[in-house]
Amino acid sequence: MQHERAQFTHMEDGTAEDWAIISREFRTHYGPYLPDRILAHLQLLEGDCGGFAVDRLSHSLQTATRAWEDGQDEEYVVCALLHDIGDTLGSYNHPDIAAAILKPFVSEENLWMVEKHGIVQSYYFFHLLGKDRNLRDQLRDHPCFERTVEFCARYDALAFDPDYPTKPLEFFEPMLRRVFAEPKRSMYVPALGRK
Ligand SMILES: [Fe+2]
Ligand SMILES: [Fe+2]
Repeated sequence: MQHERAQFTHMEDGTAEDWAIISREFRTHYGPYLPDRILAHLQLLEGDCGGFAVDRLSHSLQTATRAWEDGQDEEYVVCALLHDIGDTLGSYNHPDIAAAILKPFVSEENLWMVEKHGIVQSYYFFHLLGKDRNLRDQLRDHPCFERTVEFCARYDALAFDPDYPTKPLEFFEPMLRRVFAEPKRSMYVPALGRK
């Protein structure tokens, strides 16, 4: 496939025509394919168990399955599906990776839930590692705290069951494509993103 290229080698020399080219490339070849790249990255979690009873893809799918079966809405279910997508690149801060990907597309409440699920979830195991399991108490006054406690308690912390009837990635694909169809907020929209 032939792609147009801007002429500048230093941004200082960029022209409106250069940026029209870059905007066109973004709209036709890049922005619309974000869901495909996310799906491909989720697949990278397959076979990566990290010591857990199920691999990280199964855990992600099971978390999303449990949220969906409990009647949570589509955006919430997609957040559940992606909440650990950063495990491969963000080994020391994985919730930040998922939150950064989801940020333009989801509500403040869902974003906070994804971003803070790590510290809230630590209640289940930090004491077993010689750390304070109540670290999450520092967040207790936030309006989204209970929502995040519920996410961990009902969907995330128990999603390590190899025998649970977990739905496949294809089941969630249409939901993921709908949630990522249009950014709610981004400093690059409308400059690059909109048709
Ligand atoms: Fe996590
Ligand atoms: Fe998780």
